[in-house]
Amino acid sequence: MAKIAIVGAGHVGLVYAAGLAELGHSVRVVDIDRSKIARLRRGRVWFHEPGLPESLGRAIRKRRVSFTLSYPTGLAGAHFVFVSVPTPATNDGSLDDSMLRSAFETIRQHVGQPLPIIVNKSTVPVGTGDLAARLFGDTGLRVVSSPEFLAEGRALQDFFHPARIVLGARDRETAAAVAALFAPLGAPIVFTDNATAEFSKLAANAFLAMKVSFANALAHLSEAVGGDAEAVTRVLSLDPRIGAGHLRAGLGFGGSCLPKDVAAMEQLARKYDANADLFAAVSRVNRDQRSRIIDYLLTRFGSVADRRVAILGIAYKAGTDDTRDSPAVALAEQLLKLHASVVYYDPVAKHDLRNGDARAAVARSALGAARGADVVIFATEWTEFANVDLAKLKKVMRGTVLVDGRGIISPTDARALGFDYFGFGREGRSDS
Ligand code: UGA
Repeated sequence: MAKIAIVGAGHVGLVYAAGLAELGHSVRVVDIDRSKIARLRRGRVWFHEPGLPESLGRAIRKRRVSFTLSYPTGLAGAHFVFVSVPTPATNDGSLDDSMLRSAFETIRQHVGQPLPIIVNKSTVPVGTGDLAARLFGDTGLRVVSSPEFLAEGRALQDFFHPARIVLGARDRETAAAVAALFAPLGAPIVFTDNATAEFSKLAANAFLAMKVSFANALAHLSEAVGGDAEAVTRVLSLDPRIGAGHLRAGLGFGGSCLPKDVAAMEQLARKYDANADLFAAVSRVNRDQRSRIIDYLLTRFGSVADRRVAILGIAYKAGTDDTRDSPAVALAEQLLKLHASVVYYDPVAKHDLRNGDARAAVARSALGAARGADVVIFATEWTEFANVDLAKLKKVMRGTVLVDGRGIISPTDARALGFDYFGFGREGRSDS
């Protein structure tokens, strides 16, 4: 059993706290946010992540996890210090590592003997591991860069079944000590240097983003040639060299990771005078997806002023309540700007659209949102939306336009019920 400190009580930090505690370790979570620590001590988690409150609750009851505002308390006797603090994007697309620097600085001030191994989980500008090593100077602190690949909504599952674990360090012995913590998970481990580990995280997210933009560009083209993009995608996904994930066409990628990391890759390429075209194109295709729905509605209605639009799902994807860089929010805000009225329903997420614009409202169910609407937009892929009773939906609506932003509704079924169906790359589709 190891003593582990986790600096940063965010999504990754708390999933790690729960996961490492379930693996039998003793975990202390340190955060500078008083209200977060107070809530965690009462076993409360303020964001939606399936299984996390229960798992943390179990760990608290077994006294395997505790929470503190104090670095000295959190770090006392720790063998490992996991760092998971936010690294938001700056205006030029690069990553802001100021919170991370300050966490490293505070750790340097408070660590005692025996010296713990620092494991950085935050997504960082390439070279941060070396920067940390410089910052730690002659303290003897060793840094392992271990990028995180868990996805919101399935984070615990990803923790216990990782596709791989990446450990970047200056020496193999340090990395091996961290690897031993995760040995029960049986995942392949890639040992490398710090910068390569950090770079691999950006590369993985940029690749996933590229797949989504590829699927969207493909969908667009297949609409023009009358092909069934979904069938083409299926052909692609059955090729193990391509892989099945992240090929669903729709509103595009959002959230706090993919958009930020593609922008970081582009920025990095520009900085080193390497070719940035691919990354720029991935982001551009993604941005265009959001405007394609608006273009369709403007063509359909001439103007959307005073049209009532229901948006099903306001988070950036199903399974989360995170609305950061959500395509659904961008769409809603654009519609409000064009004087439409917008009502959304989301099973778990809340978002204050344009600071309480009088034409923005929240409904308590999909049917409630659709009541009296001219248009219904399926913006996230919750099963609840995929299974919605289309006949009932149609009945409560005023209009007939159904926009399938996530490819979850059968065009045939929708059209049979009298909907005007708009989806991405599904024009050539003859069945469900
Ligand atoms: C992503 C990566 O998948 C994780 O491996 C990584 O650890 C995480 O970023 C991170 O850097 O923290 P996440 O943003 O939670 O995870 O969600 P994804 O499931 O990757 O979805 C991202 C976006 O792409 C969502 O808006 C989703 O709706 C969209 N998407 C995904 C598609 O439009 N089509 C798809 O086929 C898949």
